[in-house]
Amino acid sequence: MTSTAEISSDIDKAVSVLLSGGLVGMPTETVYGLAALATDATAVKKVFDVKGRPYHHPLIVHVPNIAEAMKWGLFSADAVQLAASFWPGPLTLLLPRTPLAPNWVTGGRDTVAIRVPDHLVAQEFLTKVGSGVVAPSANKFGKVSPTLPQHVVHDLGEEIDMVLDGGECSVGVESTIVECIGDNTQILRQGGVTREQIEQVLHRSIITGLGESRAPGMMKSHYAPNARVILFENLTEAEDACAEHLVHHRTCRVVFHEDVHVYAHHLYQDLRQADLDDISIICAVLPPRGGIGDAVRERLGKAAAADD
Ligand code: TXA
Ligand code: MG
Repeated sequence: MTSTAEISSDIDKAVSVLLSGGLVGMPTETVYGLAALATDATAVKKVFDVKGRPYHHPLIVHVPNIAEAMKWGLFSADAVQLAASFWPGPLTLLLPRTPLAPNWVTGGRDTVAIRVPDHLVAQEFLTKVGSGVVAPSANKFGKVSPTLPQHVVHDLGEEIDMVLDGGECSVGVESTIVECIGDNTQILRQGGVTREQIEQVLHRSIITGLGESRAPGMMKSHYAPNARVILFENLTEAEDACAEHLVHHRTCRVVFHEDVHVYAHHLYQDLRQADLDDISIICAVLPPRGGIGDAVRERLGKAAAADD
């Protein structure tokens, strides 16, 4: 493809592009996804190629509701409760797969990741497609996720067919991934639904078993801007460090928002803007632990790990 993908709010057009094997930038409440028809092996292979993502990293299947989700995965009792409480929403359930979930989606694993996004445009799009849609975040592998349609065009515009316009993503960080297999329920990636919310629904404490072995693609370095990211526990320290860099003529910027939801919402935009402005050092302030602050801390940790 030589032309740049257009940003369009024509849902029917996006559906026909997808059904004919094309790739569409799809809005969700977390980040934009790079959508392809899950049952189309050739289209799914293109998703890996366009992202530069290793083929064995499995993809999330997006569906419009719980009834569709049940065609793809086997729900434990906890999974049913979590789906009923948080779907549509920023929660991905990792479940034993049904025969509908193909190897090219699951990376050959016997589990499948499923999500029902809470976004009106995505809902209508998925309903009209009428089958599962894979959608990893629509960025190059290891880079910062997109939260605006323009970010998708910037990163992948030459290689995809169109971007479905759903405006700015409201949550701003990816979905929480929860593995529910038999009696085992654990959080594999922190995100838009918090551990506290999950524990409230399940009436017990839930472990956070983060790790590359359970969910490939969760390596230490990820979400990385070009700038070097240095982490601080408080704003004053970050400001002092930034002032010091500026004295030495290094382009530097503090990244922080007092309200943790605003921080999550703006995080990827702030990291991308720093690159556009040729900033060489980002002094990022970690939000307090707990709630969605855990997801922001984790993303910042991975953005900083890129410089190790
Ligand atoms: O918010 C989100 O989840 C976004 C939007 C677009 O829905 N999607 C997203 O997808 O973040 P992606 O591919 O960037 O991250 C999905 C993660 C990967 O780390 C992948 O390895 C893991 O989920 N995953 C997917 N299926 C899996 C499986 N069957 N077993 C283990 N891990 C899986
Ligand atoms: Mg991603």
